[in-house]
Amino acid sequence: MSNPENNEKINFKSLIQWCPQAFVFADMEGNVQFANPAAHRLYGYDEGELLGKNVDIFNSHLTHNTEEIVEAIKENGSWEGELIQRKKDDAVFYAELSVNLVFVDGQPTGLCSYSRDITDKKEAEKKVLEQRELLASSSKLSTIGEMAAGIAHELNNPLAIISTKVQLLNKLIEKGKLEKEKIEDELGDVKDTCDRISKIILGLKAISRDGSLDPKANVNISEVFSDSLNLCQERFKINDIEFRANTTQSEDSYVLGRGGQLSQVVLNLLNNAFDAVQNVDEKLIELTSSLNKDKLLIEIQDSGEGIDLELREKILQPFFTTKDPGKGTGLGLSISRRIIEDHGGKFYLKDQKKTCFVIELPLVD
Ligand SMILES: Nc1ncnc2c1ncn2[C@@H]1O[C@H](COP(=O)(O)OP(=O)(O)OP(=O)(O)O)[C@@H](O)[C@H]1O
Ligand SMILES: [Mg+2]
Repeated sequence: MSNPENNEKINFKSLIQWCPQAFVFADMEGNVQFANPAAHRLYGYDEGELLGKNVDIFNSHLTHNTEEIVEAIKENGSWEGELIQRKKDDAVFYAELSVNLVFVDGQPTGLCSYSRDITDKKEAEKKVLEQRELLASSSKLSTIGEMAAGIAHELNNPLAIISTKVQLLNKLIEKGKLEKEKIEDELGDVKDTCDRISKIILGLKAISRDGSLDPKANVNISEVFSDSLNLCQERFKINDIEFRANTTQSEDSYVLGRGGQLSQVVLNLLNNAFDAVQNVDEKLIELTSSLNKDKLLIEIQDSGEGIDLELREKILQPFFTTKDPGKGTGLGLSISRRIIEDHGGKFYLKDQKKTCFVIELPLVD
């Protein structure tokens, strides 16, 4: 049975002495009055060596929140958080720290802190983050890698047009048949074709850069479509795939988000559709975009064989792929869904035989 009298006899200093967590008590100037063995071990000092030293010695100067901590303690009497601290040998480590003002007779008389080395936890978190970024960029790279051949075609065609126009103008010069009107006409075409090349490169830039940390902005959905289409339309043409875009209703619509990421989603779906129509005779891919109250609806449908019922659950899982090794990473759809949900939207497969992916996004009013 616990006896309150016994409790009073307990020497709290000796309890703290054996506490596995580092405990430091300092006066109002920050000079250490007491530090338990765990604190000496954590900061790399010999037993008793910390007495009289200023807590400044734990400051790594790598975290610039000392003032913020002092302010918080003044205001709330305490501070809790993670920061980088320094050991006696100048090695730095991540610490989880909790500092509290100690009052005696209503007067603040000192500061006590508990700290814990969380370097392992931090390293593990960093690894997970790095892994995640690696996955995202490997999927993006696979999209771009897969697109490389397609992009070559996208660029080759306009380059061939420019080359032909220049040859024609040269011939006319040779024959002395150069008329002002003709020159203007041909140069106009060259200019338009150069603009098309710029657009292809812009689309490639928008999609290949990592925009995940960009602030969200008003994005014109037509630009999202043209950035993606500029990177695959020529490939569709060369492979005899009919492509239909029904996007007039949403032409002047805006959504709040990151354009590059949205183009990446559309391109992922168009790439999947491209793969899906490879083995069927009628090759058709349709992009439809419409408005429904305050929502934008994007549908990407293809004339492929569709997705079996038992696969419908699985395809959104990361790494699920039915494509040959080296071709698909199985990340396209899971990343697309994550991006759309991060935009406050929905991403799903329509309940019908032919494959049709739907993206719903809130419109900017
Ligand atoms: N339009 C589609 N028609 C039929 N099956 C599809 C379609 N889109 C996706 N799938 C199925 O879903 C799977 C997962 O697609 P996802 O885009 O996530 O990965 P992937 O295309 O295999 O690889 P990648 O990471 O290169 O995109 C595909 O392997 C395919 O089996
Ligand atoms: Mg894919």
